[in-house]
Amino acid sequence: MSAVKILALSGSLQDESFNQRLLDRAVHFAREAGADVTSIKLEDFDLPLYSQDREMNAFPEDAKRLKALFCSHDAFLLASPEHNGSITTALKNAIDWVSRSTDGEPPLALTGFRGKVAGLMSASPSPFGGLRSLSHLRQILTTVQTLVVTEQVSVTFAHIAFEGPELIDSLPNQLLPLLAKRVVQLAKVSA
Ligand SMILES: Cc1cc2nc3c(=O)[nH]c(=O)nc-3n(C[C@H](O)[C@H](O)[C@H](O)COP(=O)(O)O)c2cc1C
Repeated sequence: MSAVKILALSGSLQDESFNQRLLDRAVHFAREAGADVTSIKLEDFDLPLYSQDREMNAFPEDAKRLKALFCSHDAFLLASPEHNGSITTALKNAIDWVSRSTDGEPPLALTGFRGKVAGLMSASPSPFGGLRSLSHLRQILTTVQTLVVTEQVSVTFAHIAFEGPELIDSLPNQLLPLLAKRVVQLAKVSA
């Protein structure tokens, strides 16, 4: 059986992102669990704010490129910063573009999401670690027919949880491999 293909991305557009650092650790553990992981950054995609007029007039090439990546992977690892109690505009915008039908697909085909598996994580300087963004993200992904694993990891007090790129907080370091393993296992079963 070929390796599970995982697409990894964070909802942060910041250079010094806590969530990107957390995601990098999760990617490491997913590779250890045997997955073939593609790690991308949303900032490398020129995604205008979604509007139906834009979609009808000229579906952006980068939105198609992003959707193709979602379609060609079995599962996702998503790190979600919390902005005002929810996911970032950048992540929601990306999900909205990827959720749209393209190239003659029927409405609500959801080919970028349907039947895929996702593992979620967040990091924030707050004592809640971005937990509220994860409940919103879980709900959104469920709406677009993605199975979200029950395990999730939130890093609280992120400003002291990392030393450079290293995650020094021990609990997330224990939980991340379990999250990564579950995503790989479930993606194998649902393939
Ligand atoms: C517009 C805005 C809203 C924010 N709202 C929240 C929030 O609701 N909860 C929270 O824990 N942190 C909030 N933060 C702080 C972010 O958690 C912090 O900027 C964090 O570093 C973002 O993740 P990143 O480093 O991966 O980009 C907010 C930051 C910004 C800029």
